[in-house]
Parts: sequence; structure tokens; C-alpha cells
Amino acid sequence: MKRVAILISGSGSNMVKLVESMTGDHPARPVLVLSNDPDAAGLDKARSFGIPAVGVDHRPFGKDRAAFEKALQDHLLEAKPDIICLAGFMRILTADFVRQWQGRMLNIHPSLLPKYRGLNTHARALASADTEHGCTVHEVTAELDDGPILGQARVPILPNDTEQDLAARVLVQEHRLYPTVLRRFSAQDRTLVLL
Ligand code: GRF
Repeated sequence: MKRVAILISGSGSNMVKLVESMTGDHPARPVLVLSNDPDAAGLDKARSFGIPAVGVDHRPFGKDRAAFEKALQDHLLEAKPDIICLAGFMRILTADFVRQWQGRMLNIHPSLLPKYRGLNTHARALASADTEHGCTVHEVTAELDDGPILGQARVPILPNDTEQDLAARVLVQEHRLYPTVLRRFSAQDRTLVLL
């Protein structure tokens, strides 16, 4: 059975969908939820599933990313995950941390990578002439939002879409895509998922 740690920063809606998917004959189970914000709503949601959930506040560490990541690592080494899922995790991880988990760490990004790496993806898609948008699950490498793509889901951009409309439409697809990719990845299957 693969052990999965999930890193969040906020509501944890993706985390909830991942946790809810890991049942029955699914080859993985959640073992830890970590957040860089001790007040993240997702932590209590994880606890309601009986999953150990820890907030490691990144702010006291200031610019010392390595020290913050050492604190994360202490919890991770205790939980011994086989896979780490970044799910709405809003901190950039150093190359050293990524190297320790490379090949075993996934992220979901709200755009059709390689388009719109980084932030404000919905506003940038709206400002473009794009007629579609979406989300991507990829393996995490040292380059931001740049690792091998494991799955994508597409949504239409509609004429009167606001950023909120588009974000909500994409989030629905994130909640379908991430569990689908995790299940395959847990079975060592890297076949591309296209939804
Ligand atoms: C969402 O906007 C999603 O696009 C991105 O992170 C944000 C928060 O997701 N992945 P969650 O509800 O905390 O999973």
C-alpha cells in the first residue's frame, strides 16, 4: 500500500478529493496532511478524516527556506510517504528539497502547462485570445511548474467569464483529474490522463 502525504496552504478542496478517492482497492492511503499555514481550513478537514494534520508556519523562518523545509522534512520522515501531493500548496520549494523527493512528488497547477506557469493563471488566460483553459498534474522538478506532465483536463473559456467563473470551472476539473492521476501514479502507471 503506497503512503501519501498531501501538502496544502488553504481550503484543501483538492486534498479532500484525493483523500476520498483513496479507499477500497486503491493502491494508496493518505498518511499525513501538512500546511505552511497553521490556520489552513484544510487541516481540520483532514483531521475529520482521522488523518494526522500538522501546520508548520513558514513565517517565523523568514527568508530561510531551508530551515522551513527542514521542519517539513521532520514530519515527512516520520510519516514515511512514498508519494507527496502538493495540492494548493503556495510555497516555492528549493531544489534541494525537490531533489530528495523527485520522482515521488506531484503538483496540480491551474493552467494547461506549459502555458501560464506561476500565478494568476485564470486572469492571464482571460486576457489572452485563448478559447480554452484547464489544469495540469505534473511531477515536481526544481523548475517551477515544469516537470513531466501526467494529466490534463480542459474547460472552455466562455465570452462573459469572470476570473471567478473560470477558476470555479477549472477547480471542478482539478477535483476529477488529481485523483485519477494519483491512482495511476500509485500503481506505477505514468500513462497520460486527458480529461
Ligand atoms: C485552487 O485555486 C487550485 O486551482 C490550486 O490551488 C487553489 C486552492 O486549492 N491548485 P485547494 O482548494 O486548497 O485544493
